[in-house]
Amino acid sequence: MYLKSGFVSSFLLHITQSELAIKLMNNVMNTYGTRELSISHGSGSWLWDTEDNKYLDALSGIAVCGLGHAHPNITKAILEQSKKLVHCSNFFSTSKQDELARKLCEIAKMSEVFFCNSGAEANETAVKIARMYGKKRGLVPPNILVTNDAFHGRTYAAISASSATKVKAGFEPLLDGFLRVPFNDLDAIKMMAKNDKNICAVFVEPIQGEGGIHIPNNDYLKDLRSICSEEGWLLMLDEVQTGNGRTGNYFCYQESDVVPDVVTTSKGLGNGFPIGACLTAGFAKQILKPGSHGSTFGGNPLACAAALATINTIINENICENARKVGERILMNLRGSLGNISCVKSIRGRGCMIGIEMNRPCKELFSVGLRNNIIINVTSETVIRLLPPLTYTMQESDHLSEVLVKIIKEFDLEK
Ligand SMILES: Cc1ncc(COP(=O)(O)O)c(C=O)c1O
Repeated sequence: MYLKSGFVSSFLLHITQSELAIKLMNNVMNTYGTRELSISHGSGSWLWDTEDNKYLDALSGIAVCGLGHAHPNITKAILEQSKKLVHCSNFFSTSKQDELARKLCEIAKMSEVFFCNSGAEANETAVKIARMYGKKRGLVPPNILVTNDAFHGRTYAAISASSATKVKAGFEPLLDGFLRVPFNDLDAIKMMAKNDKNICAVFVEPIQGEGGIHIPNNDYLKDLRSICSEEGWLLMLDEVQTGNGRTGNYFCYQESDVVPDVVTTSKGLGNGFPIGACLTAGFAKQILKPGSHGSTFGGNPLACAAALATINTIINENICENARKVGERILMNLRGSLGNISCVKSIRGRGCMIGIEMNRPCKELFSVGLRNNIIINVTSETVIRLLPPLTYTMQESDHLSEVLVKIIKEFDLEK
């Protein structure tokens, strides 16, 4: 009876038989739209679908699998740890959690870390720390400065701190206490400092990812650090996407030689095994006390083993340097071949985080990429985003560039 309804017959006109099969048989809540491919397995920079077609991955599971797919070090660490202990609760310490905390703090030049399972949860932790810190300083309500085009995740604090209407629409009321300024605009921040005495923290991505790969001026983070120190605000950096080698340093802020008060990270930290972390130093240290925050799964030994193996591989195998080299190669290839193509507005990037901004919406290029056996992403409607594994070879970089150039030239002719 359902199949005979008018809705279903008009629906049928718009989708293919196989899509229909997926839609009618799939019980996964449809928050991601129609998935065009079913992925079977991966190795290094390559993914295979269930029909054995091979794709060069330039997305890495959205900046997650920085070491590529099925990396032997990570597989081994997960296998070995899973034979010993998967989970025991945070009522107990484990050597893996302690070791990971020590390692992360050493790399980040931070003092302590709270472990969780995702980027949004790490950011929830940061927002809670900022509010507690603000209240300790007598700021009621405490306000946090955030930016236009920011993306911080999908929980309530994270969507409230994020900028795009599409992640907020329908979910109101959101959290109060976020004041927004343009990204990369220090004057706007100084103006806020004059006008609002309740600010306790600034929360930004060092390079905006979902917002369209926006890279601030070289001095932005350094000047932000100075303003925060003068005003007594926490400098909180969202390195969920930029961290773990993605931009050619372990953390992106290390390029600017600053030390923040709070850093959040996730995505590439476990190379695909879910884990998030919120690191603190300075005035943000020891704000959270026993009982004030927690996570059942956060920092379990299996996740920590995967993250330790990931960090050790990134450091021991000089992966940050490779990310810089292959990123520069891709940028050079693209700039060399697309300089005069009118649909290309700008090509920008750092390390393996690259954006090609088009002069019109280009969402369909994701599917065009699949038909050409490459996996790319389009964010912010008009920006092709490349987040390849940090382990790309020069040949893979050239292959990706060649296919992309062909696709973009064809897109240019379609206008
Ligand atoms: C900068 C940034 N922060 C936070 C998040 C949210 O991370 P998660 O999806 O793991 O919650 C993302 C995800 O894309 C991100 O790019």
